[in-house]
Amino acid sequence: METTLIIFKPDAVQRGLCGRILARFEDKGLQVVGMKFMQIPRATAETHYAPHKERPFYAGLVNFMTSSPVVVLALRGNNAITIARNLMGATFGSKANPGTIRGDFGVSNSFNLIHGSDSPEAAEKELGLFFGKGEIVNWSRAGDQWIYDMGSGKPE
Ligand code: RTP
Ligand code: MG
Repeated sequence: METTLIIFKPDAVQRGLCGRILARFEDKGLQVVGMKFMQIPRATAETHYAPHKERPFYAGLVNFMTSSPVVVLALRGNNAITIARNLMGATFGSKANPGTIRGDFGVSNSFNLIHGSDSPEAAEKELGLFFGKGEIVNWSRAGDQWIYDMGSGKPE
């Protein structure tokens, strides 16, 4: 099972879309194993988006991410990273397909509602940045036997 770091960005919180966006992930079958409401400290946002440090949009992105509260989540599932990225849609709201979160809820390219880790390495780093020891909770979900086919011994 993979765990991915998701952020409902300031625009999602300000626009009151958190419940509807979270429902997309819950409906799909991803499991919430961590969730908190916070205002991201500037240093944390700078570290989180450090891979984009040299890009022209970096300063604006850090300003945006620290401008207002966010919801940070750890979501778990088989292939959770790819599944979450597919549910999110393409980076730019103007280009994201209908049926995706960015495609259905926004038109802006930089105010694009949500972040999701893009690789297992990024997920591990980002989860460590946003969640302290004990803040990610391993728990058994009632009904998991109807989310995954465990006939072969592993989730299918
Ligand atoms: P994220 O990291 O937030 O999940 O988004 P992503 O992987 O789809 O896109 P990425 O290339 O990592 O870009 C990070 C965020 O920077 C803003 N951005 N603005 N104006 C621009 O050209 C531009 N390009 C990227 C977006 O907020 C994007 O989500
Ligand atoms: Mg990214």
